[in-house]
Order: sequence, then structure tokens, then C-alpha cells
Amino acid sequence: MARLEIHQFPCLDDNYGVLVHEPESGITASIDAPDADDVAAALQEKGWKLTHILTTHHHHDHTGGNLELKAASGCTIVGPKGEAAKVPGIDKSVGEGDTFALGPLQVHVLETPGHTAGAVTYWMPAQGVAFAGDTLFAMGCGRVFEGTMEQMWRSLRKLMDLPPATRVYCGHEYTLANARFALKIDPENLALRDRLAACEKLRAEGKPTLPTRIDIELATNPFLRVADPAIRKHLGLEDAPDWKVFAEIRERKNRG
Ligand SMILES: [Fe+2]
Repeated sequence: MARLEIHQFPCLDDNYGVLVHEPESGITASIDAPDADDVAAALQEKGWKLTHILTTHHHHDHTGGNLELKAASGCTIVGPKGEAAKVPGIDKSVGEGDTFALGPLQVHVLETPGHTAGAVTYWMPAQGVAFAGDTLFAMGCGRVFEGTMEQMWRSLRKLMDLPPATRVYCGHEYTLANARFALKIDPENLALRDRLAACEKLRAEGKPTLPTRIDIELATNPFLRVADPAIRKHLGLEDAPDWKVFAEIRERKNRG
């Protein structure tokens, strides 16, 4: 199995940049490109040469570095076919069920619309990692800007079905605010309380709280726990379909 080195680093205000490197082939992919200078500095620090950018969605804080990095490296930019026209420098569009090779790495594409209309998640099953952009966060999820609540719920449902040990890289460090909100929705959840304390300690030490893992999200993320009877009772939505419970939690989070 191809070995993978992953380097995560802060970018802009609260974004994360992620570089994925396979040493045998020399492949180095940047997951999104929030800022050309930050990505270039991370490449230089690691001594890696950029070969690909995998764009999760078109927002500027995920694609702002595309053109400059492509001009400097000649890298190939892969992005969602549902919003290809909005991804600067895109060379290859991908959609649901597509797989493609990055050297010896096999990448599977899941369409996860909702935050944007065409957002995708890149999943490398053999390595047990997924790159979810702004669809899933630690104890949270992205705002539903372009899709419908029902669509976003279906996207999260897809991620919930990934193998439980899958490590998930996300676009932003929103963890503490998410956890504090999550406790309002799911106050009796001891795993959530423990996780908030652990994440507060990490942040106090200046460390990232990401990547996360699917099983950890299933236990602590209220947006994924809409079937939980205590959460439903708390919201007064005992008999609602899952997506409506999701929508209610999302709307409460939007209201702050
Ligand atoms: Fe975004």
C-alpha cells in the first residue's frame, strides 16, 4: 500500500491547508489552496514539489491560491464538475463515484453538495483518509449556502457511512465554537463534554483539533446525531424526518 505523509498547517484566519505527499512517486497534492504564499511556504518547509491541487469547493478561501501555484509549479488542478466554471485553473472535473489515480494513490470522489452546489469530498480508502472541505467540521458542519437542507443532510449521511476509523481533514478550525453550541443541543452527552475539554487544552497549547475521525463525529457531532432520542426530545421533534431535525439544528446554529 502506498505510504502517505500528510502535513496540515494554518492558513488565512482560520483555514487549514493540507499537503498530501507520496514519497515513492513524488506526488504532492494540496487539498484546496487557501493562499498561494502559505502553501508555497509549507511546500518549501517540507521540500516537496507541488503536482496537484484537489479543490473541494469554489469558495475563495479554498481556491485563492490556485492560479499562482499553478503558474509556479505547472500542477494539475482537479475540482468538482458541479461548479467547474468557478474553480480557477481547473484541468480535470470529477463527480460522484469517480475514481482517479495520484501516482499509486486511488482517490474516490463523493459529491457532498449543500455548503456549495457542487462541493465534493475526496476519499482515499486504502489510507483511511478523507478531505471534506467545508461539509463536515469537528462537532459541526458547513453553513448551507447553495444547496438545500435536505441535500446537506444527504451529504453528511454519505460521510457517516465511511469506515468509522477514517480520518477526516476539514477546511477550518471552528472546533471550540462548534463544541460549545453542540452542548446546548446535546447537554447530556458525556463524550461531547470530554471532547470539549480535550479540545480546549489543545487550543490553549496552540495545537490543531483536526483531523477528526468518523467514529468520533458519530459520537459527538449533533448534526450527525439527529436520530438520538434525547436530542429529538430536546428539540421537540420526536417524530420528524432526520433531515428536518438536521435543519432545525443548523438553523439554531445560524442564529448563533
Ligand atoms: Fe466554504
